Amino acid sequence: MDLVFYLVASMATVGAFFFLTPLYTLFKLLFYFSRYISKEDVAGKVVLIVGASSGIGEHVAYEYARRGACLVLVARREKSLHEVAETALSLGAPEAIAVPADVSNIDDCKRLIGETINRFRQLNHLVNCAGVTPMCMLEDITDITSITPVMDINFWGYVYMTYLSIPHLRWSKGKIVAIASSASWMPAPRMSLYNASKAAVVSFYESLRMELGSEVGITIVTPGLTESEITQGKFMNKDGEMVTDQDLRDAEMSIVPIEMAATSAQAIVDGACRGDIYLAEPRWVQTTLYWVAFFPEMVEWLSKWFLLAEPGASPIDAPAKKLLDVPGLRRVSQPSSVWSSEIKK
Ligand SMILES: NC(=O)c1ccc[n+]([C@@H]2O[C@H](COP(=O)([O-])OP(=O)(O)OC[C@H]3O[C@@H](n4cnc5c(N)ncnc54)[C@H](OP(=O)(O)O)[C@@H]3O)[C@@H](O)[C@H]2O)c1
Repeated sequence: MDLVFYLVASMATVGAFFFLTPLYTLFKLLFYFSRYISKEDVAGKVVLIVGASSGIGEHVAYEYARRGACLVLVARREKSLHEVAETALSLGAPEAIAVPADVSNIDDCKRLIGETINRFRQLNHLVNCAGVTPMCMLEDITDITSITPVMDINFWGYVYMTYLSIPHLRWSKGKIVAIASSASWMPAPRMSLYNASKAAVVSFYESLRMELGSEVGITIVTPGLTESEITQGKFMNKDGEMVTDQDLRDAEMSIVPIEMAATSAQAIVDGACRGDIYLAEPRWVQTTLYWVAFFPEMVEWLSKWFLLAEPGASPIDAPAKKLLDVPGLRRVSQPSSVWSSEIKK
């Protein structure tokens, strides 16, 4: 019986693919243009950005600032947040406040939503952009419980902030911008926990979108490699500590092009204002989804061969790292800003 269902479902899928693709593409195009025409103006609106002290979140703050939005900037490093707030004010934000908080702590989340509403009386956009990146083989982890902050920050931090913001976003007919990752679909060694946390984020928001209906928009962003502290090599190691390891960065990211954070931020805020449901940035990373969907075994084999060194050897002996050592290739794939291992305090 299973075989019959399988054959019927397969034929229906192939048929739908050929018949529906043109209609679906047309619908998507028309939908895109209608959203483009009715793009939201965020001037004077209130935007809360979690993960605003560096990288993508910092540049998203600058992009909203240029469009005249009032900003609530959240992360743990207070000094960096104040610096970002000052720059945002100089770029055109009418107000920008720094609220230091750890989003893996529900009490911090309640406090920062409270401070936002007390100060501005409304919330229009929530941008969830906080994240940490564990980078190690699962079996090398010394104490598996030391890695649980990955889910606490990358997943639960998003869930807490979303849960607490929904009443205010319903009232303002606002939006949630969820920074996930193309890693949510792309398997890679040393990234199992990070990728799982990002897949959880995508799945959470896809289901939540149905619960919220049209009152609150959700843009799921799946960035490829982007200029930030992560692409400078800031990772969580096998002991659960944050370290900067640029050799490991090179072995994992190789010659995959790293997009400038400002370019990515502009596309993210444009996508949110248009009401995009999904946004892959840069756009080419979306094509990797088709490779994974249609040729999963091949992707897995290639990824293993390219990213892993011989058993027992250091990751920097992997072909991925050696390729980056070919003269000229580093300059083409990485912006010079990620060459420095200096991370903000
Ligand atoms: N860069 C990429 O190539 C790339 C690709 C795909 C997806 N992403 C995703 O993009 C998001 C932004 O990362 P990024 O690339 O811009 O890296 P980043 O420069 O390291 O920024 C991460 C941000 O998250 C904040 N953060 C970390 N833990 C936090 C916590 N417990 N509470 C509050 N804030 C916290 C950090 O601030 P504090 O340390 O001051 O708290 C920082 O502002 C992440 O979700 C990341 O997974 C990045």
